[in-house]
Amino acid sequence: MTSNITALQWLEAAKHRRSVYGLASTSKISKEEIQKILEETLSFAPSSYNTQPTRLTLITGEKQREFWNAIQAVAEPILRDFGESVWAQMGPRFEAFKGAHGSVLFWESEDSIKMSQQFHPAAAHMFNEFSDHTNGMHQILVWTALEIAGLGANLQHMQALPGVEDAIKKFCDVPNDWKLKAHLNFGDEAQEHPPVPQKLEYSKTLQVL
Ligand SMILES: Cc1cc2nc3c(=O)[nH]c(=O)nc-3n(C[C@H](O)[C@H](O)[C@H](O)COP(=O)(O)O)c2cc1C
Repeated sequence: MTSNITALQWLEAAKHRRSVYGLASTSKISKEEIQKILEETLSFAPSSYNTQPTRLTLITGEKQREFWNAIQAVAEPILRDFGESVWAQMGPRFEAFKGAHGSVLFWESEDSIKMSQQFHPAAAHMFNEFSDHTNGMHQILVWTALEIAGLGANLQHMQALPGVEDAIKKFCDVPNDWKLKAHLNFGDEAQEHPPVPQKLEYSKTLQVL
């Protein structure tokens, strides 16, 4: 069976995805349409042995600001400890993130990974890495779909700071075995859609035998 779009058409669409930091609190597509994008992604994205360890959370509207306030309560003192210049740089970014329309959180279920390890013992040592791979695949699909739908989005990892992941888990009230992998902020674009940044020469990144 062939698809009714060409490989290059699909890549052209995928190429539209960029890191967009200027985001508005509005969204030209409805919450239901955003939810549909997440459901579609979950309905077909690949995972090793089809074990499906990825979990998603959708946050929209007023909850976006409350969510970022919960992150900031933990992150701000840590960032200030690194130096006031760090907070001077990061503070405005927090305000921008709070002013976006929503977030998609990408989690992995550690219980799901443990079950996969028991079920496929020969590959047990690979399942944490496999989970990262499938999580990244979900991330790129959702990020691209939201931007093709006309929104902008940027990917964050505030859980790198100690205590932030616990605060996020508490805010979302998710099962204890869920581990946060990435966080996509999104909203209508409040800036020009950025160009593709410069990439390495193919001679450095592509081997053709
Ligand atoms: C695995 C991964 C982690 C990233 N983490 C962050 C992040 O924590 N904060 C951020 O602002 N951007 C993050 N980015 C976005 C990259 O900086 C961005 O994709 C890159 O500069 C290329 O720009 P583009 O997204 O417009 O193509 C991340 C991207 C990837 C793929």
